Amino acid sequence: MLIVFLGAPGAGKGTQAKTLAQKQNLTHLATGDLLRAEVAAHTELGLAAKAFMDRGDLVPDDVMIGMIKGRLEGPNSDGILLDGFPRTVAQAVALDEALITANTSVDRSIFFKVSEEELVRRLAGRATCPNCQRPYHDTFNKPQNTDRCDDCGSDLVRREDDKPEAVRNRLKVYATQTTPVLDHYQKGGNLVEVDGEQSIDAVQEDLAAAIG
Ligand code: AP5
Ligand code: MG
Repeated sequence: MLIVFLGAPGAGKGTQAKTLAQKQNLTHLATGDLLRAEVAAHTELGLAAKAFMDRGDLVPDDVMIGMIKGRLEGPNSDGILLDGFPRTVAQAVALDEALITANTSVDRSIFFKVSEEELVRRLAGRATCPNCQRPYHDTFNKPQNTDRCDDCGSDLVRREDDKPEAVRNRLKVYATQTTPVLDHYQKGGNLVEVDGEQSIDAVQEDLAAAIG
C-alpha cells in the first residue's frame, strides 16, 4: 500500500497522517519532519537544508529524491504514507520511476483542499511537538496540558517557517511548484480530493472513505 498526501502548507497532512498511519500500520514518511531531524542533529544535509526551509523555499530535488529513495527500500510495515513528497513534478516522476523499478505504484493520492484564508489561520496558531512531530493548534486542536505534547510530554515549539513572511513564501512556492503535481496524479487517475476545511474528525472520516 502506498499513499501520497498532497495539499498546501497547513492543509492538515501531518495531522491526518499521524492517525491514519497508526490505524493502518503504515510507515509515515514526512519529508519536512525528516529534514527538521537533520537540522536538529546538525548534519551536513541539515545545515544545507535549513536556509531553504526557514525562508519557505523548497530544498533541491536531488537531495529530496535521494532521501526518499533510500527509505522506500527499507522495511515498511504494511505500507507507506508519503506526507510532503512529491512536491515538484520532477520529484513525482522520480518517484514513479523508482516504483516501476520495484514493480509497484502509488495506490491513492489524496489532495486536501483548504482555502488560503484558513491555511494562514492554521499556520499562525500551530505548535508542534519537536519529539514526535504531532501538530497542535491554539484554537482548533489544543493539547490537554498547555504547551505539552499529549503523546510524549515534550514541550511544544513554534516552527521557524510559520512566521508570516515565510508562510507567504511557502504559499507562493506551493502555487507555482507544487500545484502541477496535482495534474500529474489527476492524469494518473488515482487522485481523490478531500474537503480539508472541515473539522479534524470529519476530514478523517472522508479520508477513510477515500482510501477504502
Ligand atoms: P513540511 O513540514 O512538509 O511543511 P508543509 O508542507 O508546509 O506542511 P505543514 O507541515 O506546514 O502543514 P500540514 O499540511 O502538515 O498541516 P498540519 O497537519 O501541521 O515542509 C517544511 C519545509 O521542508 C518546506 O517548506 C521545504 O523547505 C522542505 N521540504 C519538505 N518536503 C520537501 C520536498 N518534498 N521537496 C523540497 N522541500 C521540501 O496542520 C496545520 C495546523 O492546522 C495545525 O496547527 C493543526 O493542529 C491544524 N489543523 C489541522 N487540521 C485541521 C482541521 N481540519 N481543522 C482545524 N485545524 C486543523
Ligand atoms: Mg506537516
